Amino acid sequence: MRIDVVSLFPDFVAQVAGHGVVGRAGERGLLSLHGWNPRDFAEGNYRRVDDRPFGGGPGMVMLIDPLRAALAAARAADPAPARVVYLSPQGRPLDQAKARELAALPRLVLLCGRYEGVDERLLAAEVDEELSIGDYVLSGGELAAAVVVDAVARLLPGALNDAESAAQDSFEPPADGKGGPLLLDCPHYTRPVVHALGAVPPVLLSGNHADIARWRYQQALGRTWQRRPDLIDLTALSPADRRLLDA
Ligand code: ADE
Repeated sequence: MRIDVVSLFPDFVAQVAGHGVVGRAGERGLLSLHGWNPRDFAEGNYRRVDDRPFGGGPGMVMLIDPLRAALAAARAADPAPARVVYLSPQGRPLDQAKARELAALPRLVLLCGRYEGVDERLLAAEVDEELSIGDYVLSGGELAAAVVVDAVARLLPGALNDAESAAQDSFEPPADGKGGPLLLDCPHYTRPVVHALGAVPPVLLSGNHADIARWRYQQALGRTWQRRPDLIDLTALSPADRRLLDA
């Protein structure tokens, strides 16, 4: 997969996202990451990339033309069609299903804004979708782009060493496609068995794979209900059980 990042700080995205699994995906030839700086496509001595907003107000807005030229260069660098994603708090929230959808594409172009944002006409003409990484405001799209690169790269076949570990993540649905709630991950333990901070739950030492799987599922279900009840469809429960949970 090829990911192009259009940003005033393209190296920053590669730095933040370029370690561990993502770095290895690059080394294994599963992912190629390319940066494009709109300033390199800006005209004039000052290479201006922004200007004041019409209608007044604080901050600056990114100009259409440098971004458009950078996007055109990114698109032209490879013949495969590219999905162009703009990172902004106004976007649809990123989730694991979206990461999976993006990981199945041959190409992705991530557009990062700075300042107050990007001229809306550029977005309307060039952007296929807008994604947010959460309900808070970052000072630019770069950290959000790094999040997308990481979430997508680790889903590329061969990126993870243990083929099972992506399937067992929080938010990954079961491989049988039967749906069920998306659950948070269960707790994990490693050596030593007994530590001043506590002991490892005995079931994990039992060697009984069915018992271990059941325990992990119970833990995942319990944590999800306690921490993220919004992820579980409580309408499947009887009214009496629901009253019990609410109490
Ligand atoms: N740019 C600024 N804030 C952002 C957010 N929350 N998600 C995605 N891109 C952003």
